Amino acid sequence: MDCDGIARWYRFFEYFAFGRALERRRLEYLEAVADARSVLILGDGDGRFTAEFVKRNPRAAVQFVDLSSKMVELAKCRVSETAGVRFRVGDARTIALDGNYDLVVSHFFLDCFTESELAELVATISACCVPGARWLVSEFGLPAGGVGRFAARVLIRVMYFFFWVVTGLKVTRLPAYAPVLARNGFQMVRRQTAVGGLLMSELFGSQRDHGVDAGGAPGGEPGGKKRRTTNDGRSGGDCEGIEGTDSV
Ligand SMILES: C[S@@+](CC[C@H](N)C(=O)[O-])C[C@H]1O[C@@H](n2cnc3c(N)ncnc32)[C@H](O)[C@@H]1O
Repeated sequence: MDCDGIARWYRFFEYFAFGRALERRRLEYLEAVADARSVLILGDGDGRFTAEFVKRNPRAAVQFVDLSSKMVELAKCRVSETAGVRFRVGDARTIALDGNYDLVVSHFFLDCFTESELAELVATISACCVPGARWLVSEFGLPAGGVGRFAARVLIRVMYFFFWVVTGLKVTRLPAYAPVLARNGFQMVRRQTAVGGLLMSELFGSQRDHGVDAGGAPGGEPGGKKRRTTNDGRSGGDCEGIEGTDSV
């Protein structure tokens, strides 16, 4: 997926199609996560959530990762220079991460992956989280039934077609991300839907010790894995050894 070409226009497409509805989903649990200290924000595009987050929580250390260098440029302009945000251009599945996250944020991002890609992504990220970490998600969903479900299916197909044309995205259907998160220890603790179930804000929590796991670990081997130490000496997940990419 290459969002460079649409980066500048992305929010106008969004406002044209959905008004402020996606924005409300992103911000639904902003207050609930305002105590997070070490935050990984995945695929936030032009950085609108990140800008709001750091206004509420200027003391948090935030790592922002997006594949599109143009999106990252826009996000950097939007976020105060004094905020503790480290901007990175790279693939969230392979980029080297600091680790020790107590909050992961992904708004309208998990839908860019197939379920098998998500399994890889979530395992990698959750191995970099501390026990008690939370994962904040906004996503599209399908209403329970009736005309709303049919209309949502059509709309989601149209959106995937649009993103295929303008970004080359190859994914064609919404992945079932909640079971993938559950396999990695994240259970849903709060959920709010909008537009009849088409849009969702969800907060997942985990009690799992992601760094030391006694089997069935996120990316772990049976018998468990020793917690590794990050560059600054803190203990963390299995975060090193993952390919690094450029930062902007
Ligand atoms: C659909 S946009 C969502 C943007 C924003 N989060 C929002 O709420 O509107 C998906 C974003 O994820 C980024 N992205 C897609 N695949 C990625 C990957 N593998 N690693 C990091 N970022 C990725 C894209 O560049 C884009 O900015």
